[in-house]
Amino acid sequence: MVMSVAAPQARGKYSEDKIFGANNRANALADKLGVDRVINGTVGSILDEDGNLVMLDVVRQAFKELLPKDIISYAPIQGYPEYLDAVIDQCFGASRPDGYIRACATSGGSGVIHHVIHNYSEIGDEILTSDWHWGAYGSMCIDNGRKLREFELLNKDRKFNFEDFKAHVTDLVAKQLNTVILMNSPANNPTGFALSGEDWDKVLAFLQEIVTNKEKNIILVPDVAYLDYSGEKSECRRFFKKFGNLPANILVIVAYTLSKGFTMYGQRMGAMIGVTSDADVAEEFVAINQYSNRATWSNSNSAAMKAMIHICEDPEKIKQLDAERANYFALIKERAELFMQEADACGLVYLPYLSGFFITIPLLGSQTVCDELEKENIFLVPLGKGLRLAVCSVSKKKIHGLAVKIKTVTDKLGIDR
Ligand SMILES: Cc1ncc(COP(=O)(O)O)c(C=O)c1O
Repeated sequence: MVMSVAAPQARGKYSEDKIFGANNRANALADKLGVDRVINGTVGSILDEDGNLVMLDVVRQAFKELLPKDIISYAPIQGYPEYLDAVIDQCFGASRPDGYIRACATSGGSGVIHHVIHNYSEIGDEILTSDWHWGAYGSMCIDNGRKLREFELLNKDRKFNFEDFKAHVTDLVAKQLNTVILMNSPANNPTGFALSGEDWDKVLAFLQEIVTNKEKNIILVPDVAYLDYSGEKSECRRFFKKFGNLPANILVIVAYTLSKGFTMYGQRMGAMIGVTSDADVAEEFVAINQYSNRATWSNSNSAAMKAMIHICEDPEKIKQLDAERANYFALIKERAELFMQEADACGLVYLPYLSGFFITIPLLGSQTVCDELEKENIFLVPLGKGLRLAVCSVSKKKIHGLAVKIKTVTDKLGIDR
């Protein structure tokens, strides 16, 4: 037996990060053969057409101009007030919902998900998300003594599966005091799918109906990590307006992060934004999440907050930020469209992609397909039910021909969907 001194609930925890593993192998091979001969579709960050990690110029400049005290100071536990205002403004834009809106700084979007699970569900509860979801959701639930439950994101017509969503929520509301729903839209990781305006209307009408006259709560968490690359600035934010005027037992907590929109991935800076029609719920939101900040990582990264504040207090810099994001949104779109065109031409099926960093090819036996593709110097991420390709990081030159290569390998292996 393997010796363990871990406490019982921590024994056997082990995370083999398939994404970082494949990325490391791809980089090692690129060092040996040259970058041009390797296709690394694992990286969830924007790389330019030459394969360099992109840092937005306006962000680079803002970091350069920071004073030592901006960088090294302890920030307030809730976050600098100007940061919290900037976060709310950047997130909602012209579509700020009505109601009490409060923000609390977190360690990236991950910090938001952690605090939501920790503070709004009980030990043993199930947390609901879609079957196509970011893997860290599951780890965060398990690490906190909760379970992740999945509804089917798509129906057989490849549209939002409202019926399955309804069935799972109904069951959870009957069983639990709080039902936490993690909804990664727009630009879902890993599919690129998004709920339409009508989908959101149906979801919100149903959620109101299911908790009316019940002492039950819904905590709805739109995870908008990829918001800034999901469409035209005001158009892609329109759905936020729908979160106003909901009953007091429905709390919306938007999971916001600077990781992608400000290309600050490693800076670990985000915010949870609570939207509620109830003053007490708003006050409690700040109190309990600020407490959890203190009780986990304490205060957040001062430099990252200050850099964001300096950008957002200058209209010219915001213009530059918007223009830079629009360029990268267009670049990712071109790559995705090229891949989809070629996939259509060769009969390779992919899940409905609207925007975002990733495209998913649904299939069984993803590990075998990835192993085979690696023999051709192509690195993708194997998922439980498919393969994930990061269109944010593969140049158009390398995307060209990739769909055919994947199709050839799946045909050769006799892989069925
Ligand atoms: C769906 C989703 N949510 C949230 C995040 C937040 O990441 P971070 O904690 O780096 O801000 C990510 C990053 O990969 C993500 O894919």
